[in-house]
Amino acid sequence: MKRLWRFGFKVNWHIGGEKNMKTYIITGASKGLGKAIAELCLQEGNHCIFVARSANEQLIDKARSQGLKVSSILADLGDSGQLPEIVDSIFSKIGDTDELLLINNAGVVEPIKPVGQLEQNKLEDSIKVNFLAPIMLSNAFIDRTRGFPGKKTIVNVSSGAALRPYQGWAAYCSTKAGLEMFTRVTAAEQDQEQYPVTIISFSPGIMDTNMQADIRQADEKDFAHAEIFHAYKEQGRLRSPELVAEKLMALLQDGPLENGRFYDIKNLL
Ligand SMILES: NC(=O)c1ccc[n+]([C@@H]2O[C@H](COP(=O)([O-])OP(=O)(O)OC[C@H]3O[C@@H](n4cnc5c(N)ncnc54)[C@H](OP(=O)(O)O)[C@@H]3O)[C@@H](O)[C@H]2O)c1
Repeated sequence: MKRLWRFGFKVNWHIGGEKNMKTYIITGASKGLGKAIAELCLQEGNHCIFVARSANEQLIDKARSQGLKVSSILADLGDSGQLPEIVDSIFSKIGDTDELLLINNAGVVEPIKPVGQLEQNKLEDSIKVNFLAPIMLSNAFIDRTRGFPGKKTIVNVSSGAALRPYQGWAAYCSTKAGLEMFTRVTAAEQDQEQYPVTIISFSPGIMDTNMQADIRQADEKDFAHAEIFHAYKEQGRLRSPELVAEKLMALLQDGPLENGRFYDIKNLL
């Protein structure tokens, strides 16, 4: 089946054929877990649309030199005024596809401060990057692919902090907890749709990325668990983002996924 679909932008999709053509939209694809997911997506020959403030030029150049389809959108997801344009730009890049995946991975752990000392600008950035942007991207994804009959998946990268309070992480815990509830509500709504989107939370556990370096830089008086997080690094207990990305990709491929479920890396190892 081949159809042309217009919704203020155009998506061509085709079902059938030899290879299942997938399109991945990955936020925060420049570093850490997002970069590791991006590398695996490209290795599989999918069309990848990367979103972040910086680009991983080496990865993009390598992919293009191998004839792989890659789009890079430089965007600050903390700039909420620009979000509608960012969303349009992302969806304008989608071409022929059998399957669509949105990986809401970009995130920030700051501000690391007890409540009473939170600065509004850092708090706003946390709310916009961790909560508003994934919601707006999911909202657009669901709206603009409503008539798309192929497989559609949204992964909201979550954290143990969505379920458990950490002193000093009020912003991070609250935004991840809010996103968790958004995932569950959306899943319940999608269960009623003709062509539902499957939406899940994925908790990657502690990984050796820049985010952990930011955590280790926090002042001990602001973050009650500072010593424990220093020990994770010293004892080699942080997982590599590459291993975590592999487990996520296997989860997405093996399925079937339970709509609205919180998947924890600990149960996938
Ligand atoms: N690391 C851990 O131990 C851990 C544990 C649990 C959950 N997580 C979650 O895993 C996800 C990935 O974290 P990570 O450890 O890989 O973090 P990371 O290494 O700090 O990478 C964060 C990514 O998000 C992007 N990003 C940050 N602010 C952005 C903005 N304003 N606009 C656009 N992109 C932005 C960054 O790209 P640019 O800087 O190029 O914009 C980068 O690609 C996050 O959702 C995090 O909450 C991490």
